[in-house]
Amino acid sequence: MTSKYQHLIDLNDYPVSWWNKLLCLGQDICRNPGRYHGACTDKILATLFYEPSTRTQMSFQTAMLRLGGTIIGFDNPATSSVSKGENLKDTTKIVSGYADVLVIRHPQEGTAKAAALSADCPVINAGDGGHLHPTQTLTDMLTLTEEKGRLDNLVIGLCGDLMNGRTVHSLCKALSSYKNNRFVLISSKELKLPSYVKDILSANGCSYKEVFSLEEAIPELDVLYMTRIQRERFASTEDYEAQKNIYVLDKAKMKLAKSDLIVLHPLPRVDEIAVEVDDDPRALYFKQAKYGVFIRMALILTMIENKTPFQLLSGTTHKNICCSNPKCITNTEKYLPKSFITSGDIIECEYCDERMLLR
Ligand code: NCD
Repeated sequence: MTSKYQHLIDLNDYPVSWWNKLLCLGQDICRNPGRYHGACTDKILATLFYEPSTRTQMSFQTAMLRLGGTIIGFDNPATSSVSKGENLKDTTKIVSGYADVLVIRHPQEGTAKAAALSADCPVINAGDGGHLHPTQTLTDMLTLTEEKGRLDNLVIGLCGDLMNGRTVHSLCKALSSYKNNRFVLISSKELKLPSYVKDILSANGCSYKEVFSLEEAIPELDVLYMTRIQRERFASTEDYEAQKNIYVLDKAKMKLAKSDLIVLHPLPRVDEIAVEVDDDPRALYFKQAKYGVFIRMALILTMIENKTPFQLLSGTTHKNICCSNPKCITNTEKYLPKSFITSGDIIECEYCDERMLLR
């Protein structure tokens, strides 16, 4: 199924050359923001946020306002017709008819792709459940480019909720495409990186190791990407409580790290980075959030200008097979074509990447 608009659902839908071009534009906007004022006059950005957000939503809004455009949208579906039972298809169809670009965040996996199927403008994925968060990854990549000077030859430690952290999944997928990156996956055994992401690391020739101790891992890292335990993705409060304070980055642990380590965090922080770390020059998470505006300006410009058709679904539709991931959008928005990519006797849901055995 092809769309006549460009969408950003997953960074891996585009080649690395596309990411690099976007990052160059982001760098130029960062250096010369004034040059881009007015670049989107008469354009409208819509934000449909079915889940809480501070940085992603506001940085998209700031980006559009800095480009001279206008913003519409909701940040609480309870105040929109969603509360009257409107489905995703209808909300998307209507709002995309009002706007020039639509940014969507939703608790269910695969929602951005599902929305793009009925959208009359480009759709940008601002987080689909615990699946992906490509624009946070673009922010992280611009931060690394500016602050570390490179996206390759890095030892990258990711710490915390690697299972549910969508920022981690998108970042691993992206950074594994650059040469000689090595990943240190620091988590409890319950919150390990999903195997489909680990398979992508291996397929891209990246080495990785899974460890439990942050203290033991920190000395060799060039980048430490801390993450919040994603409370909203847990089945029970007890399960969350058992995980919540396992990792806390503090001054004592920072003493074990390299002098040129950089500490990133997509934010919001809960307790996983002690406030005492904020004054360490290696703590770059607040600066990282500022880079988010520049890269989103670059992204809005790119999406609005590009009119190349976009392949949304390329697999086989199976009427009688449901995705086995209960958090997949296809299990609630029943009208969606259930499309899977077949590889041997495995089929993979084209919305959420869930793998199932074909019987
Ligand atoms: C992240 C998210 O929403 O996935 N936040 C963000 O967009 N910067 C991380 C999180 O919520 O933990």
